[in-house]
Amino acid sequence: MNQTVSINAPDYVKHEGLKQWVAQIAALTEPASVVWADGSQEEYDRLCNELVEAGTFIRLNPQKRKNSYLAFSDPSDVARVEDRTYICSEKQEDAGPTNNWEDPKKMREILGGLFKGCMKGRTMYVIPFSMGPIGSPIAQIGVEISDSAYVVVNMRIMTRMGKAVFPVLGTDGAFVPCVHTIGAPKEPGQKDPRWPCNPTTKYIVHYPETREIWSYGSGYGGNALLGKKCLALRIASNMARDDGWMAEHMLILGVESPAGEKRYVAAAFPSACGKTNFAMLVPPASLSGWKVTTIGDDIAWIKPRKDKDGVTRLYAINPEAGFFGVAPGTNEKTNFNAMASLSENTIFTNVALTDDGDVWWEGMGPPPAHAIDWQGNDWTPEIAKEKGTKAAHPNSRFTAPAAQCPCIDENWESTEGVPISAFLFGGRRASTVPLVCQTRDWDYGVYAAATLGSETTAAAFGQQGVVRRDPFAMLPFCGYNMADYYSHWLKMGKAVDKPPLIFMVNWFRMNEKGEFAWPGFGDNARVLKWIIDRCEGRVSARETTLGWMPNYEDMDWSGANFSKDEFAGVTSLDKQAWVSELEGVKDWFGKMGGKLPAKLSAIRDELEQRFQAA
Ligand code: OXD
Ligand code: MN
Repeated sequence: MNQTVSINAPDYVKHEGLKQWVAQIAALTEPASVVWADGSQEEYDRLCNELVEAGTFIRLNPQKRKNSYLAFSDPSDVARVEDRTYICSEKQEDAGPTNNWEDPKKMREILGGLFKGCMKGRTMYVIPFSMGPIGSPIAQIGVEISDSAYVVVNMRIMTRMGKAVFPVLGTDGAFVPCVHTIGAPKEPGQKDPRWPCNPTTKYIVHYPETREIWSYGSGYGGNALLGKKCLALRIASNMARDDGWMAEHMLILGVESPAGEKRYVAAAFPSACGKTNFAMLVPPASLSGWKVTTIGDDIAWIKPRKDKDGVTRLYAINPEAGFFGVAPGTNEKTNFNAMASLSENTIFTNVALTDDGDVWWEGMGPPPAHAIDWQGNDWTPEIAKEKGTKAAHPNSRFTAPAAQCPCIDENWESTEGVPISAFLFGGRRASTVPLVCQTRDWDYGVYAAATLGSETTAAAFGQQGVVRRDPFAMLPFCGYNMADYYSHWLKMGKAVDKPPLIFMVNWFRMNEKGEFAWPGFGDNARVLKWIIDRCEGRVSARETTLGWMPNYEDMDWSGANFSKDEFAGVTSLDKQAWVSELEGVKDWFGKMGGKLPAKLSAIRDELEQRFQAA
C-alpha cells in the first residue's frame, strides 16, 4: 500500500463517508497523486492542455472549431464491450437471462487483484457529478474515481460535474460509487502511448444490491464515462424498480403546435436507428408552425407526479448534460441541429483530422483530398477506394454540450421534468411493422416494447429478415432480470392516473425494389403530429388487428409527395409476416424464463388468434 499518497480533499468536501471511500480506493490503486475535479473552465482547459502535451488530444484549428479537440483511441478500445459487461447480483436469477452474470464474491476477488496498484504512476481524479439538474428530485449523485484525464473532461460535458454537487451531497448524502481505471500502471519514467488502456483485459461490473460500478481496462465511451450507461441505466434501472420510477434508454422531445401548445414524448430506438436525428428533427417547412425541441437524445428518468389538478402523470428529465453521439452519417441534412451543437467546445474521438486542422467523417460532406484517419495514417479517397479504409471509425463520437443545441427545449433543465404524453418504440424493420400504430392500451404497448427488434439482413418486400430482439432498446442496459423489468412496466401503467399512450413506429419499411419506402428524417414530424393529435383526441384512426392506425387522410401531407398507394405500402399488415413474427415472439418469450408476466404471453396468443382470423 502506498502510505504517502494524501487524498487532498478540498475544504468544501465535508462528507466523511466520501473521504473514507476515496482513501480506501487510493490505498488499493496506489496512484502517484489525488486530484478532486472542481468542474471549472480553468480545470477543463488545464487538463485539455495536458492531454495535448501527452499526445492524447490534438487541438483543432480554433478558426474552424473553437476550443475543440480530437482523440484517437487504441484500436483495441473503440466501443462498449458488452461481452465484458456484468451484472453481479447476489442471485444469478436477478441478473436474468439477458445479462452476463458472475458471483459477486468471485468478481470482487478478480477485481481486487486487478485494481491492486492499477493507478501506479498516475493521477487519481475524484469526479463528483449529478445525473440530472442539480437539486432535481429525480436526479442522483455519483462520484467517479478515474485515472484518466480524458474521462474528467468528457464527464464535464456529459454531466453536471464538480464542486457544484456538494451542497446537495452535504455531509452524508447518498452517492453511487464508480471506480474506473484504464488498467495501465506506469513505471517511473515510462512514457505513455497516445491512448493508454489495457489492450487485453476489460471488465465493466455492476453490483446492483450495493449500487456500485467498477470498470477496468477501457478508456472509451460508456465503458469509462460511468454516469451514462452504467449509472443512468444499469444501476438506475434497479433504483427505479425499487422506488417506483423508470430509468429508460429514451430520447425526450417537445412538439409545439402552431397554436404554441407544447407536448412531450419519449422514444426508445435500438442502436443505429437514427435516435439522435429523431431527437433533433427539423419538421419540413410545409408543416408550417410545427416545431420540435430537444430535452435529451439518449436517456430519460421518469417519475410519477401528482399535478395541481390532482391527476398523477409521468414526468421526465434528461439525466445527461451533453451528447455523446455517433459522428458518421451526421451532416447538415440528416441532423442540422447536431452539426450546429458541435461547432465549438467539442471533443471528437476517432474521426479523421483534415489538413486544415478540422474534422471529417464518412457522410459529413465531400471528402477532403487528404486527411489523417482515426488510426493516425494518411487517408485519401483513392486509398479508401483501393483498401476500403474508413477515415473515421464507424463508432467514432462527438462529445458536445447539450446547451449548444439550437433546438434545445426551454425546459431541458427543469428540476421537476416535463410531462410525457406518449411513448414511442421503433426498430429497424424492413417488413412487417407499420409506419405507426397506437397500441390498444398500456399493456399492449408494453408487449410491443418487450418484443421490439431490428432486422439484421435486408429483407425483400413482405419477407422478414432475421429479427434481433432489443426489448425497450434496453437489452445491453437493463441492470436486472428482463422479465422483472417487463413486470415493472406493467405496474407503472397503473401507478399513474393518466399514463402516456404507447405507439410503435418504423421508419425503415422497404419496397419491392429494396429501397426505403418512407422518406424519414424531417418527414417523421408528420407521424409525430398524428401522435400528438391522437393524444389530444382530435384526429381519427382506423382500428386494425394490431391497434389504431392512421387513414391516409388522418395525416398532414402538406408539401409532401407521398401517395395513397405509397402510404398503403408502409402501413400494410401482412398476415403471413405477422404469423411468423408471432412465432418469433414465442421463441423470444421462451428465452425469458419462468418470470415472464403471463399477461404478455396472453397478449401474444390473442394477437395470433386475431391474425389467424383476419
Ligand atoms: C449509445 C448506445 O452509445 O446506445 O448511446 O450504444
Ligand atoms: Mn444509447
